[in-house]
Amino acid sequence: MARCLGLALLLLLGSASSAGWNSCVAAAEACTANARCQRLRTEYVAQCLGRASSGGCPRARCRRALRRFFNRGPPALTLALLFCPCGDPACAERRRQTFVPACAFSGPDPAPPSCLAPLEACEHSQLCRSRLRAFQASCAPTPVAPDGCPREQAPGCRHAYAGLVGTTVTPNYVDNASARVAPWCDCGASGNRREECEAFRGLFTRNPCLDRAIQAFESRWPPSLQDRHQDPEHSLLQLLTCN
Ligand SMILES: *[C@@H]1O[C@H](CO)[C@@H](O)[C@H](O)[C@H]1NC(C)=O
Repeated sequence: MARCLGLALLLLLGSASSAGWNSCVAAAEACTANARCQRLRTEYVAQCLGRASSGGCPRARCRRALRRFFNRGPPALTLALLFCPCGDPACAERRRQTFVPACAFSGPDPAPPSCLAPLEACEHSQLCRSRLRAFQASCAPTPVAPDGCPREQAPGCRHAYAGLVGTTVTPNYVDNASARVAPWCDCGASGNRREECEAFRGLFTRNPCLDRAIQAFESRWPPSLQDRHQDPEHSLLQLLTCN
Protein backbone atom coordinates (compact mmCIF):
# COMPACT_ATOMS: atom_id res chain seq x y z
CA MET A 1 0.00 0.00 0.00
CA ALA A 2 2.85 2.40 0.84
CA ARG A 3 4.39 1.77 -2.56
CA CYS A 4 1.04 2.44 -4.12
CA LEU A 5 0.60 5.76 -2.39
CA GLY A 6 4.10 6.76 -3.41
CA LEU A 7 3.27 6.01 -7.00
CA ALA A 8 -0.03 7.83 -6.76
CA LEU A 9 1.84 10.93 -5.61
CA LEU A 10 4.34 10.49 -8.39
CA LEU A 11 1.52 10.30 -10.91
CA LEU A 12 -0.08 13.35 -9.40
CA LEU A 13 3.17 15.33 -9.67
CA GLY A 14 3.72 14.00 -13.17
CA SER A 15 0.32 15.12 -14.35
CA ALA A 16 0.79 18.54 -12.79
CA SER A 17 3.83 19.27 -14.96
CA SER A 18 2.25 18.60 -18.31
CA ALA A 19 5.45 19.11 -20.30
CA GLY A 20 6.98 15.72 -20.85
CA TRP A 21 3.94 14.02 -19.36
CA ASN A 22 3.66 10.71 -21.13
CA SER A 23 0.34 8.92 -20.61
CA CYS A 24 1.79 5.62 -21.85
CA VAL A 25 4.57 5.78 -19.25
CA ALA A 26 1.93 6.52 -16.60
CA ALA A 27 -0.15 3.57 -17.80
CA ALA A 28 2.93 1.32 -17.59
CA GLU A 29 3.66 2.56 -14.06
CA ALA A 30 0.07 1.92 -13.01
CA CYS A 31 0.35 -1.62 -14.38
CA THR A 32 3.62 -2.15 -12.54
CA ALA A 33 1.95 -1.13 -9.28
CA ASN A 34 -0.68 -3.83 -9.67
CA ALA A 35 0.58 -7.34 -8.94
CA ARG A 36 -1.66 -9.12 -11.44
CA CYS A 37 -1.11 -6.64 -14.27
CA GLN A 38 2.63 -6.66 -13.68
CA ARG A 39 2.83 -10.46 -13.64
CA LEU A 40 0.88 -10.83 -16.88
CA ARG A 41 2.88 -8.09 -18.59
CA THR A 42 6.21 -9.56 -17.50
CA GLU A 43 4.99 -12.85 -18.94
CA TYR A 44 4.18 -11.55 -22.42
CA VAL A 45 7.32 -9.41 -22.58
CA ALA A 46 9.44 -12.46 -21.70
CA GLN A 47 7.67 -14.60 -24.30
CA CYS A 48 7.69 -11.97 -27.02
CA LEU A 49 11.38 -11.14 -26.59
CA GLY A 50 12.32 -14.83 -26.48
CA ARG A 51 13.94 -16.84 -29.25
CA ALA A 52 12.25 -19.74 -30.97
CA SER A 53 14.29 -22.85 -31.74
CA SER A 54 14.00 -21.86 -35.41
CA GLY A 55 15.84 -18.61 -34.67
CA GLY A 56 12.80 -16.36 -35.07
CA CYS A 57 10.63 -15.27 -32.19
CA PRO A 58 8.10 -17.65 -30.57
CA ARG A 59 5.14 -15.83 -32.14
CA ALA A 60 2.45 -18.31 -31.05
CA ARG A 61 3.60 -18.21 -27.42
CA CYS A 62 3.97 -14.42 -27.51
CA ARG A 63 0.45 -14.02 -28.84
CA ARG A 64 -0.99 -16.45 -26.33
CA ALA A 65 0.61 -14.48 -23.48
CA LEU A 66 -0.84 -11.26 -24.92
CA ARG A 67 -4.31 -12.77 -25.07
CA ARG A 68 -3.89 -13.82 -21.46
CA PHE A 69 -2.87 -10.28 -20.53
CA PHE A 70 -6.19 -8.96 -21.85
CA ASN A 71 -8.28 -11.93 -20.68
CA ARG A 72 -7.06 -11.88 -17.11
CA GLY A 73 -5.61 -8.42 -16.45
CA PRO A 74 -7.64 -5.63 -14.82
CA PRO A 75 -9.38 -3.95 -17.80
CA ALA A 76 -8.83 -0.42 -16.44
CA LEU A 77 -5.09 -1.03 -16.57
CA THR A 78 -4.74 -3.20 -19.68
CA LEU A 79 -6.91 -0.89 -21.79
CA ALA A 80 -4.99 2.15 -20.51
CA LEU A 81 -1.81 0.58 -21.91
CA LEU A 82 -3.51 -0.06 -25.24
CA PHE A 83 -5.25 3.31 -25.65
CA CYS A 84 -3.06 5.78 -23.70
CA PRO A 85 -3.58 9.11 -25.52
CA CYS A 86 -0.51 10.74 -27.07
CA GLY A 87 0.25 14.23 -28.29
CA ASP A 88 3.85 13.69 -29.36
CA PRO A 89 5.93 11.09 -31.24
CA ALA A 90 7.87 9.86 -28.19
CA CYS A 91 4.63 8.89 -26.46
CA ALA A 92 3.11 7.44 -29.63
CA GLU A 93 6.26 5.46 -30.36
CA ARG A 94 6.12 3.97 -26.90
CA ARG A 95 2.44 3.13 -27.39
CA ARG A 96 3.23 1.46 -30.73
CA GLN A 97 5.96 -0.64 -29.09
CA THR A 98 3.96 -1.64 -25.99
CA PHE A 99 2.96 -5.07 -27.24
CA VAL A 100 6.36 -5.98 -28.72
CA PRO A 101 5.25 -5.60 -32.34
CA ALA A 102 8.38 -7.23 -33.80
CA CYS A 103 7.08 -10.56 -32.50
CA ALA A 104 3.37 -10.09 -31.78
CA PHE A 105 2.45 -8.05 -34.84
CA SER A 106 4.78 -8.24 -37.83
CA GLY A 107 6.84 -10.95 -39.49
CA PRO A 108 8.01 -13.55 -40.16
CA ASP A 109 8.71 -12.05 -43.62
CA PRO A 110 10.16 -8.56 -43.89
CA ALA A 111 7.28 -7.41 -46.15
CA PRO A 112 3.65 -7.52 -44.98
CA PRO A 113 1.51 -10.29 -46.55
CA SER A 114 -1.80 -9.80 -48.30
CA CYS A 115 -4.50 -9.28 -45.67
CA LEU A 116 -6.27 -12.32 -47.12
CA ALA A 117 -3.63 -14.56 -45.50
CA PRO A 118 -4.15 -13.50 -41.85
CA LEU A 119 -7.89 -13.25 -42.54
CA GLU A 120 -8.04 -16.86 -43.77
CA ALA A 121 -5.92 -18.04 -40.87
CA CYS A 122 -8.34 -16.23 -38.54
CA GLU A 123 -11.38 -17.82 -40.16
CA HIS A 124 -9.83 -21.23 -39.50
CA SER A 125 -9.38 -20.57 -35.78
CA GLN A 126 -12.53 -20.69 -33.71
CA LEU A 127 -11.13 -18.25 -31.17
CA CYS A 128 -9.98 -15.73 -33.76
CA ARG A 129 -13.13 -16.05 -35.86
CA SER A 130 -15.44 -15.34 -32.94
CA ARG A 131 -13.33 -12.38 -31.83
CA LEU A 132 -13.29 -10.98 -35.33
CA ARG A 133 -17.08 -11.31 -35.52
CA ALA A 134 -17.39 -9.55 -32.17
CA PHE A 135 -15.12 -6.76 -33.42
CA GLN A 136 -17.14 -6.39 -36.63
CA ALA A 137 -20.39 -6.25 -34.69
CA SER A 138 -19.16 -3.97 -31.89
CA CYS A 139 -17.39 -1.37 -34.04
CA ALA A 140 -19.77 -1.30 -36.99
CA PRO A 141 -21.28 1.99 -38.14
CA THR A 142 -25.09 2.04 -37.82
CA PRO A 143 -27.23 4.15 -40.13
CA VAL A 144 -29.70 4.99 -37.34
CA ALA A 145 -27.12 6.84 -35.19
CA PRO A 146 -26.90 10.58 -35.97
CA ASP A 147 -23.22 10.41 -36.95
CA GLY A 148 -23.20 6.72 -37.84
CA CYS A 149 -21.63 5.62 -34.55
CA PRO A 150 -23.81 5.09 -31.47
CA ARG A 151 -22.11 6.82 -28.53
CA GLU A 152 -22.74 3.93 -26.15
CA GLN A 153 -20.96 1.63 -28.59
CA ALA A 154 -17.45 2.91 -27.77
CA PRO A 155 -16.60 0.81 -24.67
CA GLY A 156 -17.75 -2.41 -26.39
CA CYS A 157 -15.80 -1.49 -29.51
CA ARG A 158 -12.58 -0.88 -27.52
CA HIS A 159 -13.07 -4.15 -25.68
CA ALA A 160 -13.60 -6.09 -28.92
CA TYR A 161 -10.56 -4.41 -30.50
CA ALA A 162 -8.44 -5.45 -27.50
CA GLY A 163 -9.75 -8.99 -28.02
CA LEU A 164 -7.96 -9.12 -31.37
CA VAL A 165 -4.53 -8.40 -29.87
CA GLY A 166 -2.75 -11.73 -29.80
CA THR A 167 -4.72 -13.29 -32.69
CA THR A 168 -3.51 -13.73 -36.30
CA VAL A 169 -5.17 -10.41 -37.10
CA THR A 170 -3.42 -8.53 -34.27
CA PRO A 171 -3.78 -4.80 -34.95
CA ASN A 172 -1.35 -2.10 -33.86
CA TYR A 173 -0.68 1.61 -34.36
CA VAL A 174 0.83 2.07 -37.80
CA ASP A 175 3.19 4.95 -36.91
CA ASN A 176 4.16 7.43 -34.19
CA ALA A 177 2.49 10.42 -35.83
CA SER A 178 -1.15 9.34 -35.54
CA ALA A 179 -3.55 7.04 -33.73
CA ARG A 180 -4.24 5.07 -36.92
CA VAL A 181 -4.31 1.30 -36.51
CA ALA A 182 -4.14 -1.72 -38.83
CA PRO A 183 -3.13 -5.35 -38.84
CA TRP A 184 0.25 -6.03 -40.44
CA CYS A 185 -0.82 -6.67 -44.03
CA ASP A 186 -1.81 -4.86 -47.20
CA CYS A 187 -3.98 -5.47 -50.23
CA GLY A 188 -1.38 -4.91 -52.98
CA ALA A 189 -1.14 -8.54 -54.04
CA SER A 190 -4.71 -9.68 -53.51
CA GLY A 191 -5.55 -10.08 -57.22
CA ASN A 192 -9.21 -10.54 -58.01
CA ARG A 193 -10.10 -10.62 -54.30
CA ARG A 194 -8.98 -7.05 -53.75
CA GLU A 195 -12.42 -5.87 -52.72
CA GLU A 196 -12.70 -8.53 -50.04
CA CYS A 197 -9.21 -7.66 -48.86
CA GLU A 198 -9.94 -3.92 -48.70
CA ALA A 199 -13.21 -4.53 -46.87
CA PHE A 200 -11.35 -6.41 -44.16
CA ARG A 201 -8.48 -3.91 -43.88
CA GLY A 202 -11.01 -1.07 -43.89
CA LEU A 203 -12.55 -2.39 -40.65
CA PHE A 204 -9.41 -0.92 -39.08
CA THR A 205 -8.20 1.80 -41.43
CA ARG A 206 -11.48 3.34 -42.60
CA ASN A 207 -13.75 2.81 -39.64
CA PRO A 208 -14.96 6.09 -38.12
CA CYS A 209 -16.54 4.25 -35.18
CA LEU A 210 -13.25 2.59 -34.23
CA ASP A 211 -11.41 5.93 -34.58
CA ARG A 212 -14.01 7.55 -32.38
CA ALA A 213 -13.91 4.78 -29.77
CA ILE A 214 -10.12 5.15 -29.49
CA GLN A 215 -10.36 8.94 -29.27
CA ALA A 216 -13.16 8.74 -26.73
CA PHE A 217 -10.81 6.93 -24.37
CA GLU A 218 -8.63 10.03 -24.54
CA SER A 219 -11.42 12.28 -23.30
CA ARG A 220 -11.87 9.93 -20.34
CA TRP A 221 -8.13 10.00 -19.62
CA PRO A 222 -6.82 9.56 -17.05
CA PRO A 223 -9.88 7.74 -15.74
CA SER A 224 -9.67 8.94 -12.15
CA LEU A 225 -7.06 11.69 -12.26
CA GLN A 226 -9.71 13.98 -13.66
CA ASP A 227 -11.37 14.42 -10.30
CA ARG A 228 -8.10 14.61 -8.36
CA HIS A 229 -9.01 17.99 -6.91
CA GLN A 230 -11.82 16.40 -4.93
CA ASP A 231 -10.16 13.37 -3.44
CA PRO A 232 -6.77 12.68 -4.92
CA GLU A 233 -5.73 9.67 -2.89
CA HIS A 234 -9.00 7.88 -3.20
CA SER A 235 -9.44 8.43 -6.91
CA LEU A 236 -5.81 7.62 -7.69
CA LEU A 237 -5.96 4.45 -5.71
CA GLN A 238 -9.07 3.52 -7.62
CA LEU A 239 -7.18 4.05 -10.82
CA LEU A 240 -4.28 1.97 -9.64
CA THR A 241 -6.51 -0.69 -8.10
CA CYS A 242 -3.68 -1.53 -5.75
CA ASN A 243 -3.55 -4.94 -4.18
C1 LIG B 1 8.94 7.96 -35.17
O1 LIG B 1 8.96 7.11 -36.30
C2 LIG B 1 9.98 7.43 -37.25
C3 LIG B 1 9.77 6.56 -38.46
O2 LIG B 1 9.67 5.22 -38.11
C4 LIG B 1 11.35 7.24 -36.59
O3 LIG B 1 12.38 7.56 -37.50
C5 LIG B 1 11.44 8.13 -35.36
O4 LIG B 1 12.65 7.89 -34.67
C6 LIG B 1 10.26 7.87 -34.41
N1 LIG B 1 10.25 8.85 -33.33
C7 LIG B 1 10.40 8.50 -32.04
C8 LIG B 1 10.33 9.62 -31.06
O5 LIG B 1 10.59 7.36 -31.68
